[in-house]
Amino acid sequence: MKKKCFIFDLDGVIVDTAKYHFQAWRALANDLGIDFTLEQNEQLKGVSRVRSLEKILNWGGVTLGPDEFQHKMNQKNDNYLDYIADMDTSELLPDVDRVLKFLTQNDQFIALGSASKNARPILDKTKITPLFDAIVDGNDVTKAKPNPEVFLKAAKLTKTKPKNCIVFEDSLAGIQAANSAGMLSIGIGNAEILKEAQFNFEDFRSLPNQFLNQLIKN
Ligand code: BG6
Ligand code: MG
Repeated sequence: MKKKCFIFDLDGVIVDTAKYHFQAWRALANDLGIDFTLEQNEQLKGVSRVRSLEKILNWGGVTLGPDEFQHKMNQKNDNYLDYIADMDTSELLPDVDRVLKFLTQNDQFIALGSASKNARPILDKTKITPLFDAIVDGNDVTKAKPNPEVFLKAAKLTKTKPKNCIVFEDSLAGIQAANSAGMLSIGIGNAEILKEAQFNFEDFRSLPNQFLNQLIKN
């Protein structure tokens, strides 16, 4: 049987770091006198650091020079790094370990496809790095989601055809990236927001091994 490649987004899929990105961006936006809502945050999920700041500044009608822009990006990341400093295995989202274990036992490829430049230390802190056959993160791509580059790179590294790849994503940009890569897209989270996904699950607790088995076999 052909191996499939299961590509996981990181923030909001493997670990609950989406809330830390939100808190760090909100602090920065409010500092600049810009309101920042949960609805706006939804539009930043899966979006690179630089693009996120551009969007926030645009919403607030604020313009920054290049130095100040860089300074704000660093400030956001320092704040975010404080949140994840003490991260450990307890921050893995429910049933992520069960899903990773099942796929490993069934000899499938496991890859990471994340926009974050902080992905590798997070995989280390949560002790799951050895489970990954390929890791593609924000340091490895030039085009951000919804561009499919991140997922296509993961497919290439595992020598798997896009049609044999399955992507787990919590962001609309990520689902769109998976779809335009010609991969199977599975939304993890709010099905209304992720309605472009081919399948939707609230979280991994509602995604049984039997379903994974079908994905492996089909
Ligand atoms: C994505 C997150 O995974 O990574 C975004 O959904 C985040 O919220 C982006 O902005 C970039 O992350 P980082 O860690 O490089 O700032
Ligand atoms: Mg995400």
